[in-house]
Parts: sequence; C-alpha cells; structure tokens
Amino acid sequence: MERYTPNREEAYELLTKYVQDPSLINHALMVEAAMGHFAKLFEEEDIEKWRVVGLIHDLDFEKYPEEHCKMTEKILKEENWPEDYIRAVLSHGWITCTDVEPKHKMEKVIYTIDELTGLIYATAIMRPSKSLLDLSVKSVKKKWKQKSFAAGVDREVIARGVDMLGMELDEVIRETIEGMKSVAGEIGLNTELN
Ligand SMILES: [Fe+2]
Ligand SMILES: [Fe+2]
Repeated sequence: MERYTPNREEAYELLTKYVQDPSLINHALMVEAAMGHFAKLFEEEDIEKWRVVGLIHDLDFEKYPEEHCKMTEKILKEENWPEDYIRAVLSHGWITCTDVEPKHKMEKVIYTIDELTGLIYATAIMRPSKSLLDLSVKSVKKKWKQKSFAAGVDREVIARGVDMLGMELDEVIRETIEGMKSVAGEIGLNTELN
C-alpha cells in the first residue's frame, strides 16, 4: 500500500474537526510555527512534516482530555497517518501520558517547545507591547523563575527537552520566540511596535 503523508491542509482540517477552542487552536498554531522554524534551523528536508506534527499533537485534548494522546493515536491510525508521524506526536506526552521517549530530533523539539511556547506567549501578552518583537530571552527567563507565573507550564519538562537537544536554554528560548513570530498576528499578539 502506498504511504499516505498528510499535508498541512489535511492536518488543519482534521484538527478543526476535533478542536474548536480558540486557545487550543492558537496553541496548535504556535507549536506548528516553532516546529517549522526548528526544522529550518536544523536544515531538515521535510519542514512540512515537522509542522504537521506540531499542528496535530493535541488533537484529542478538547474532546478526550482524560485519554490525552491515546485517542490521538487511535484517530491518526484510523486516518492512515504514517507510523513515524504518530510516534512523534505521542512523544510530546512522554512520561505524562505516553511511554514514547523522544529519540528523533523532531521528537525532542516538540517535547521541548510544547510547553515553552505557552510560557513565551504568556510572557508576551502580559507586556505593554503585547508583542514578540521586543521580547528578550531575559524576560522569558525571569518568568521561568517565577513559579507562580503560568504555573501550568512544567519547567522540568522543558529543561529535560533542552538537555536532550544538547542546546542551551537561552538558545532554545531565542529560537522559539523567532519561530512564533510568523503566527504572532493569528494568535493575538501585536506584529508592530507602537
Ligand atoms: Fe499535549
Ligand atoms: Fe501541546
């Protein structure tokens, strides 16, 4: 049987079939954007694959929060998604909801930036500019240390991911901010500084 590879349009269509909550759609868009950015940074050939994995990773979260990751696996299998796409999606929930340890670089990146995009977004939206354009790594790290800020963001998961990537936290934050800039307008951040 010929291998089916979902493109971005099909992935978005599937996502919106299961997810309507605007904040979850925004989350999907920012993770997608960051994935695309890292794919380019690492000179990966299949940028769309990285983006698609980012876009679809929380497919089941709105409808089946109790079975997070498990339902996504089921749905994607039914949709004939390739094994490597499904594996990458499941790896974002390593320890918390799956036992799929991130091995491939794409898996390590989604594991790392899933929660980090949330921290960056929360930091940006609180600032007077409500923009990523003047957001420094330092500002994000300040919020990283303030545990009560965006308390749902698991800093340990991010730190573990950064370690797996063999990168510095500062660098990962910087590149994630860069990646998110391409969807800033769509996710409700200002794209110009006043
Ligand atoms: Fe998730
Ligand atoms: Fe997520």
